[in-house]
Amino acid sequence: MNRNRQLDFLAVTEAAALSSARWVGKGDRNSADQAACEGMRRTLGSMEMDGTIVIGEGERDEAPMLYIGEKVGTGEGPVIQIAVDPLEGTNLCANGTPNAIAVLAACVEGEGHLMHAPDCYMDKLVVGAECAGVVDITLPAKVNIRLMAKALGKDVDELIIGMLDRPRHEKLIQEVRDAGARVHLIPDGDLSVAIAALDPDAGVDGLVGIGGAPEGGVFAAATLCCGGEMQAKLVFTSDEQRERAEKMVDGGIDRVFRTEDLASGNVIFAATGITSGDLLKGVRYRRGFALTESIIMRSGEGTIRRIETIHRYAERYEY
Ligand code: FBP
Repeated sequence: MNRNRQLDFLAVTEAAALSSARWVGKGDRNSADQAACEGMRRTLGSMEMDGTIVIGEGERDEAPMLYIGEKVGTGEGPVIQIAVDPLEGTNLCANGTPNAIAVLAACVEGEGHLMHAPDCYMDKLVVGAECAGVVDITLPAKVNIRLMAKALGKDVDELIIGMLDRPRHEKLIQEVRDAGARVHLIPDGDLSVAIAALDPDAGVDGLVGIGGAPEGGVFAAATLCCGGEMQAKLVFTSDEQRERAEKMVDGGIDRVFRTEDLASGNVIFAATGITSGDLLKGVRYRRGFALTESIIMRSGEGTIRRIETIHRYAERYEY
């Protein structure tokens, strides 16, 4: 994907962030999500491409926009697969708490591949480049923690492992603590923590536990761009979910998915902050302007850019 198109995609996450930022702290997660979707969809619609949403807001029958299979763009130009999460952390945005972000991943068909992630849960293990090839999601947490500490040259009690604060993780939290590592519990937004796990200076060494599969599918592109490793297993809560996944996923739904099964080849990943967090500053306002901070990565060229943008929003965005 060329550099100009990369900037076009950056404008897409910026639009989602700018639109949903008006709903930060208003206690209305649905309106915040809808605003993010509208901002993202409007900007995608103006891009010269034959785009298809491969990970989105859900299946066609349950999501009014940015549903899986929806065509976006002008219909002219390259054929592009797009995985989106217009507002990752709807509660974070509604409550005005850190780490709400707008994200997408994309690739030109034939140059790269993105998993068509079904709408179910995913058990995830994400580590940065130094631990790539070292961990194994099928091993007990305590074994992976020992292996990570060795690969990072740290004592076990210097490790911090991120995971969602959910009752389903009670046993896993205890296992990580018993192994001697420290736990970083988050209320929502495992995607932000997974990105932090890829950055050796972000203060999180890994992400474990069960979160959304769509978030995992989008995030795999970032893992590929950063040279980290992601391993995942799909988790189903109903037969209907299993049946839908069977239709969408090649190669068996009960296997361990590795980074290259989830994202491969030339892909891009973009994220823009909505509320300020560990990774990115949120949307800030100045007289007639809005400021955004984003990160954009390209696997092909191996680049990771942080971009601050000043938007004369009154002219470009309808609120
Ligand atoms: P939303 O932005 O869709 O609300 O998702 C937030 C999130 O915390 C994700 O980061 C995470 O993967 C998923 O929800 C976990 O789902 P659940 O809240 O059902 O445990």
